[in-house]
Amino acid sequence: MTDTAHERRRLAARLAQDGALKTPAWRAAVESVPRELFLHPGVFLPEGGLWRPMTAVGADPTEWVRTAYTLDTLTTQLDGHLTADQVSEPVAGLPTSSSTMPALVVGMIESLDVEYGHQVLEIGTGTGYSAALMCHRLGEDNVTTVEVDPAVAARADAALETAGFSTWTVTGDGLLGHPRRAPYDRVIATCLVKRIPYAWVRQTKPGGIILATVGAWANGSGLAKVTVNEDGTAEGRIIGRASFMQARSQATTPVDGDFSARTAYADGERQTKMSPLVLHEWMPAFLAQLAAPGAQLVQATTSTGARLLYLFAPERESFAEFSADGTGWRVRQGGPVRLWDDIEKALTAWQGAGSPDIASVGLRVTDRAHTYWIGEDPELRWEHRLDAAY
Ligand SMILES: C[S@@+](CC[C@H](N)C(=O)[O-])C[C@H]1O[C@@H](n2cnc3c(N)ncnc32)[C@H](O)[C@@H]1O
Repeated sequence: MTDTAHERRRLAARLAQDGALKTPAWRAAVESVPRELFLHPGVFLPEGGLWRPMTAVGADPTEWVRTAYTLDTLTTQLDGHLTADQVSEPVAGLPTSSSTMPALVVGMIESLDVEYGHQVLEIGTGTGYSAALMCHRLGEDNVTTVEVDPAVAARADAALETAGFSTWTVTGDGLLGHPRRAPYDRVIATCLVKRIPYAWVRQTKPGGIILATVGAWANGSGLAKVTVNEDGTAEGRIIGRASFMQARSQATTPVDGDFSARTAYADGERQTKMSPLVLHEWMPAFLAQLAAPGAQLVQATTSTGARLLYLFAPERESFAEFSADGTGWRVRQGGPVRLWDDIEKALTAWQGAGSPDIASVGLRVTDRAHTYWIGEDPELRWEHRLDAAY
């Protein structure tokens, strides 16, 4: 087996240079844990809209090591079952497990503010690489990691053993946490969640920290960092942008099919005050999810090539349909929730506040609701209640 000490040191140096890696103890972890051990049986590399398989066994050793130490996310599973050893040609598919880009993994574990002796619960073991970094820093008995996919969990467990860590790899739905080893000092999720499950708050000690990416849109989710209070609530803020694959048990089914039937009955039509294309930008997309929870942004093209843009909230039987009219945009809305009215109001208030960054968003989690806010403006305050359907 190739000794990758040089590549590990180089990776650590690049992460430190980019500002993701800050503390000597995490640097030591990156320099020690071989990422390639966690990529068996192989990875899928993006190529022309497809995924090219590359296996650990059989690949050119130099190319394999170079791939393992890329700064990119390495996809290890497609469509919930396919691994790189099962195909020989490029394939289509949706990534369902991966080794996340090292800068994001390291940036997140740096933000966890861990101290030696802390008990950490990780949701989304994936390859096990991030769990291995934490085991290096905290000791294998202090890390519990939960993976929903049994085959992925088994591979991660084997890789962790090979790397020398007999940690607690649990197969199950991480949205439930892992009560048997609770309470934890830190909870970190490396999959996207619509909201922080209250089970995580319950399983975290007062003063403990939960770090998780919240949202449902790939390019509009926020990394939430909340501290658990004595009274069983948790409070903090969104500390930055982050993007992850959705937690499987919460994964949204994308709206598909006959859009004309979905938009047949509108209750009103008007000119928009701003272009809906603003929703392609990260912060407006994040705000749209706060203002219209459960809404999906859908793009389509007609047979004549015309571009169509919609917002659908299927659980709330509501839609907004946009059409460019030469000078601006018109919106037709239907259903009990005026999705675009709510989003436009939020975006207008946000622009009025000087378009602050995602790090201006506060978050409070209770057993009943998530409350988000920016500053004091009541128009920039959103309560998502667990008893509301979306
Ligand atoms: C981006 S990968 C994790 C990356 C990993 N921490 C690493 O660095 O290798 C996300 C993982 O979360 C897992 N996952 C998705 N939903 C989950 C859930 N509800 N509970 C636990 N794991 C889940 C997926 O199967 C996938 O393996």
